[in-house]
Formats: sequence, C-alpha cells, structure tokens
Amino acid sequence: MKDVRTDGQPKRVFIRTYGCQMNVYDSDRMADVLRPLGYALAEGPEQADLVVLNTCHIREHASEKVYSELGRLRAVKTERRAEGRDLTIAVAGCVAQAEGEEIIRRQPAVDIVVGSQAYHRLPELLAQVARKAAGVDPGKRQPGAGVLDTEFPAESKFDHLPSPQGIRAGSAFLSIQEGCDKFCTFCVVPYTRGMEYSRPVAAVLAEARQLIEAGALELTLLGQNVNAYHGEGPDGSTWSLARLVRAIGEIDGLARLRYMTSHPRDMDDDLIAAHGDVPLLMPYLHLPVQSGSNRILEAMNRRHDRDLYLRIVERLRNARSDLALSSDFIVGFPGESDADFDDTMRLIEQVGFASAYAFRYSRRPGTPGAALVDQVPENVKVARLAALQALVAKQARDFNESKAGTIVPVLFAESGRKPGQIMGKTPWLQSVYVQGNPRLFSHIVDVRLIEGYANSLSGEIVVGPVEVAA
Ligand code: SAH
Ligand code: SF4
Ligand code: F3S
Repeated sequence: MKDVRTDGQPKRVFIRTYGCQMNVYDSDRMADVLRPLGYALAEGPEQADLVVLNTCHIREHASEKVYSELGRLRAVKTERRAEGRDLTIAVAGCVAQAEGEEIIRRQPAVDIVVGSQAYHRLPELLAQVARKAAGVDPGKRQPGAGVLDTEFPAESKFDHLPSPQGIRAGSAFLSIQEGCDKFCTFCVVPYTRGMEYSRPVAAVLAEARQLIEAGALELTLLGQNVNAYHGEGPDGSTWSLARLVRAIGEIDGLARLRYMTSHPRDMDDDLIAAHGDVPLLMPYLHLPVQSGSNRILEAMNRRHDRDLYLRIVERLRNARSDLALSSDFIVGFPGESDADFDDTMRLIEQVGFASAYAFRYSRRPGTPGAALVDQVPENVKVARLAALQALVAKQARDFNESKAGTIVPVLFAESGRKPGQIMGKTPWLQSVYVQGNPRLFSHIVDVRLIEGYANSLSGEIVVGPVEVAA
C-alpha cells in the first residue's frame, strides 16, 4: 500500500459509527489499524478515499439506515470515478457480520465487508481490493466486486491491534469482554458478536496503563455483558470484573472508572461491594432490566425476575447511597399485555431512574422472539413507548433538579452551544454547561450546579476556597 495518494495528499478515511459503545471502541481501533497505512481521519465522506460504515443490527431501523447511507455513498463513488479517482466503501460491524455477502448483492458499490472480529485484517482486505482493481488477483470474488471477511478467527483480534489512540477529552473506552451467550429471545448480539470472550487480565491492564499515560482520566470498561467478565489472570486463576475493577482502580493517574453494559444476573456480591469500596468507581450504573413483568422477563429468557432486579438495586444503594441507575426497556415484546406493561411502569416508579432508553420491540430475523405468534400491534407499541418515555423523562428531570445547589467534580469535554460555554460530565454522567475556557477540556474541575433541566444542568466553576455544605 502507498502512504500517499497519487496527488501527494495523505489518504483519508471517514468512519461512521452506528450502534453501541462497542462500535465506538471498534471504530477507534479501526482508525488505529489504518493509521500505519497513512490514513488520516476525514471529517466527512466527501473528503475521504475510504469510507467505513461501522454498523448496528440491533433493530430493523438500524440496519435499514445502513442501506440508505450506502445508496448515497454509491453516488459519491460514481462521481469520483467520472473524475478518474475512486472511493473505497467498507461495511463493518454487526450488519456486516449478520448479512455478509447479502450486502454486496444489495449494494454492489461496496468493496469490503468486514466482521466485528476481523477488522484487524483491514490492511489485507484493502490490498486485495487494490489488486483486484489492478486486475492482478481476482481473489475470492463475491457476486459484486467486493471482498468479504466475516470469520470469527481462532486468535482474538486483540492480539493483533496496535496501541490504542482513542482518547477524547480525557475519557476512553476499553473493551474487556465481547460477545454474549445469554440468548435473550429478542436479541441478535449472540449471533453478530459470537460467543462470550474475556480478554486476559494482563492485556487489559496494559491497555489501561497505555490509555492513562496517553491522558485518559476516565476509563469505561466495555463489554456486551461486561460483568460476566472472567479473564485469565497472570497467575492462571480466573478474575471477575470486581477483581479487575479493584486492580484498575489502583493505577496512578486515573480519576474515574465505569463499566457497561451489565446484566442483572451477573451482579455478584463482590461487584456490588466494589461500588462501596472502590472510590474511583463512579456512582452511576447502566443495568438494563428490559421489562418489569415476570411473564415477559421469562419469555425474553432474561433468567431473572423483577424481585431479583429490585433486590440488586437495593443492595447497590446500600453499598453506595448516591448511586444512580439507568436501564433499557423494550415495549411490545410478543405477548405483552396491558398488565405486563403496567408492571414495567410500576418497576420504574419503584426504582427511580436517572435516565433510560426505551425501544419498541423490533422483530429480528433468526431470533426466537421473531417466531412468536402473539406480536403486539405497532400502534400499541407506540402508545406504550410514549407513556414510558414520559415517565422516565420526568424522573431524569427530577434527578437533575435534585443536584442543583451542590458542588460536584466535572470532567470537561467540549464546547457548548453558546459562545464562551463549555460542557462536561458529572460523576452521574449528566451534561453540565458553564462559562469557561477550552483550556479546561480534559480536566476535572469543581462546579457549583445551578439549575437542573430535562437533559442537562447549568453551573459555574468554583473558584477560590470551597465551603462544603453540611
Ligand atoms: N447486553 C445488553 C444489551 C445490548 S443491546 C443487555 O443485556 O441488556 C442494547 C439494547 O437494545 C437492549 O438492552 C435492548 O433494550 C435493545 N434491544 C435489543 N434487541 C432489541 C429488539 N429486537 N427490539 C428492540 N430493542 C432491542
Ligand atoms: Fe443481547 Fe441479552 Fe446478550 Fe444483552 S444479554 S447482549 S440483550 S442476548
Ligand atoms: Fe448494535 Fe452490534 Fe452494538 S448490533 S448495539 S452495534 S453489538
């Protein structure tokens, strides 16, 4: 591969990320893989020689968005070719994993389809595309002209990735666990990401240190089922997430530690205790419950009931009294009655969430839920979603308002919408807007919170000695 384009400019890649934090992490790592080939990051597809769509398959809508975007990219590619240049189009992530060749069949302008466990091989795939273009190697040509790699290789991609560079404003993701063996009946993840895999402890600690040395003050440990983590320790024993959290919590230079996404079934005693005794562990936990109805939880194969969830929440709050929770909810799972939905609403009232994501159930091909006969009509799902969202929106506002008047450390990240304004995050992941200098980006500064709103708070930087409220 050449390091520069024929016009002498550096090559540029634009990576568009859909879906969850795992994809955000993977997009950063794809940029790391492409950097040694000379690729700088482009702001948009128009400036790019290579566009990577890092896709999500979780709901029907998410997959369809990818095809519309591919249609637009095809037009850009056609224009480029008319000018004697080219645009390479790659589809990565969970749609790539799930649909493979079908993508090239539906959109022949796609050059590369690369799965979520194979993207460390992007340089090889790009070389194959270049050879094909030069007519040297017809390779394993797919129905379109594209090349495909959606293997789950025997050796983990993590053993082949270069050092991570993906730190944004003092905060970085660190993937420690991938895949899922839980097989919730609505979910494609076990099929798109493969079996559960935990990275060895030594590799995780090494990456954590690299990120902290490179300026990360906050680390978020990632996994589809992060608290099912069971990595091989340096002494050959198996480490739990709690043990790993305790070890990372002792690395010098780190100020904040988070992990996501957790499954209620894997909240073990030690992890609950860690929320009380690891000071760096932030008092905010995303713990999806999906539904408050025992019948629906069972049909979803969640392997726990509402009481277990409520008990875990209580124990977490006993360990750390200021812990705030967020959750995901699915409304309109097949068979969900009004009474089941009411159970969900009551659970929300009982817990009081700081934030929550809610989705209409989306029938995903190949999952057991898709085959169930008692699908809920779309208009019922829409009405339930609106009611649920109104309730969690009120709880989110109440939570933000409850923090007004307090002084909290804020990690500043980016400019705000108004002139002179900057935005940062509280320990509870709330967005705070203050008048401040961009020099504060990547710094943690005490802020007096003034007023809480639906999605954010206003505040002012505390200068001089701070009086701590009794
Ligand atoms: N591992 C996490 C969830 C990963 S998927 C967990 O166990 O909770 C992120 C969220 O997407 C899920 O929590 C769920 O609320 C939602 N989701 C997954 N499949 C869905 C489907 N078929 N329809 C609607 N929402 C879905
Ligand atoms: Fe999907 Fe369930 Fe696994 Fe979460 S636990 S990724 S919802 S199968
Ligand atoms: Fe989507 Fe794949 Fe994440 S399906 S939610 S990008 S694991």
